Amino acid sequence: MKFLKDFDLNKKRVLLRGDLNVPIDEETGEILDDFRIRAIVPTLDFLVKNKAKIVLMSHLGRPDGNVVENLKMDKIGKVFSEKLGFKICKVDSYYSEKIEEMSNKLNPGEILLLENLRFWTEEEKNELIFSQNLSKLGDIYINDAFSASHREHSSIVGIAKFFMEKGIGLLFEKELKSINDFMKSEEKPAIFIIGGIKEEKVIFLEKVLEMADFILTSGIVARNLPSALIGNAKIITPVDVVVSSDKGGISVEKFSEIDKKTEIPDIGPETQKLFSDYISTAKKIFWTGSLGKTENDEFSNGTGAIAESVLKNKTANSIIGGGSLLFTLRQLRLRDKGFSHLSTGGGALLDYIVDGKLTGLNALED
Ligand code: 3PG
Repeated sequence: MKFLKDFDLNKKRVLLRGDLNVPIDEETGEILDDFRIRAIVPTLDFLVKNKAKIVLMSHLGRPDGNVVENLKMDKIGKVFSEKLGFKICKVDSYYSEKIEEMSNKLNPGEILLLENLRFWTEEEKNELIFSQNLSKLGDIYINDAFSASHREHSSIVGIAKFFMEKGIGLLFEKELKSINDFMKSEEKPAIFIIGGIKEEKVIFLEKVLEMADFILTSGIVARNLPSALIGNAKIITPVDVVVSSDKGGISVEKFSEIDKKTEIPDIGPETQKLFSDYISTAKKIFWTGSLGKTENDEFSNGTGAIAESVLKNKTANSIIGGGSLLFTLRQLRLRDKGFSHLSTGGGALLDYIVDGKLTGLNALED
């Protein structure tokens, strides 16, 4: 695998795949969290310092091959130029001869930002002609989109075929180092906190049984657990949970006493205490997914209490990932309080933890 430092970047066009897929307010189109935009800044700084000409590309949201006004890349470009001080020029397509000419005329340190790649269906179909057109915009291909590299898409997989000079950026390198170190360390107990509601979490949970000593799960994941789970880990389910009553208002109920269809918007205070006791003993902590419906402030208490416990354990190495969890931690003003590694990855992080590989990485090594 090649890293940024391995290339002669001077006056070369670097086609950089970032993951600038940030949460957007559906109504106003406003960027709700610029964490992923800021995460790629070290790579951009390195490229600017080394006088590369930069062509930056990403997807944003899931427009399914349609042009969606709120998902245009202009607002991302504005963050780079107005907040972060980069020289950036946004174009309205992913490729044209004119754009190719513009890429050649860039001054070292300038950035050409392409339109949202998912406005074209070819991107998600990994169509080679799409990759080939993109490849005309660079001399070197750099993938810095760790969090999108579980997707077999044109700008991540197909594109690698068209470059002799290719590698990963500083963000990707940092993610791999932190996660590899975490996986290699044999310190115990290893605690995995699995929140969120997605089906994929249950599959993930089946696989982490071999890696964890304890798995702490939120009510929703706990309820969907397959009955025949075999492994070393002990699964700790909530003892009490918060539920909303029909008449409005909320109450705390025993987890074992609520019926399977009742929604569980948060863990209860006894569960917070139980989970915190486990966390205080941990040497390694992996956490993905909020522990409640944290889009509603009222249901952020469980996630907040668990975050405080993770922060209080100064000796454990922690990896925290997943867009909605990171967003909640920011809302709670806890995100920058000293977690060992905040990953930009959601699905990619889970895939890498489970399989130790990503389709986007394999493509670079072929
Ligand atoms: C993510 O947010 O996990 C990546 O940007 C990939 O986005 P996707 O799940 O829409 O493919």
